[in-house]
Amino acid sequence: MIYLTRRERFCAAHRIFRKEWSDEVNQRVFGKCSNPNWHGHNYILWVTVKGEPSEERGFVMNINVLKRIILDNVINKIDHKNINLEVDFMNERIATTENLAISIWNELNPFIEKEGASLYCVKIEETENNSIEYYGEKD
Ligand code: NI
Repeated sequence: MIYLTRRERFCAAHRIFRKEWSDEVNQRVFGKCSNPNWHGHNYILWVTVKGEPSEERGFVMNINVLKRIILDNVINKIDHKNINLEVDFMNERIATTENLAISIWNELNPFIEKEGASLYCVKIEETENNSIEYYGEKD
């Protein structure tokens, strides 16, 4: 089995909060990421697909196609945008990196399957010290 990873970067603004909670409670639960006037992160996204290299072409999937799928369905929709207000695939979910990874997985998965590979991991780094990985499992 071969694992193939494409890295992309995007900058985006967000605020992590529940609107039914006061600013004070949001601040206590979510910390600085709950600042009412938004803030940004320089995110790094790694998308890993897996499969066997084909006999004919020798690759798991065409890396240029993978790049195009990620750009069209994720990066061009989120780069320099407000995740809470402008990113349709977040569907008003709380703008955590966890929810972002799940949403990005759901966006990419059908396109990657069409190419004959399997999505293996969506990893997102929000800061140098904080990153999350999603493998498509529910538990
Ligand atoms: Ni934040």
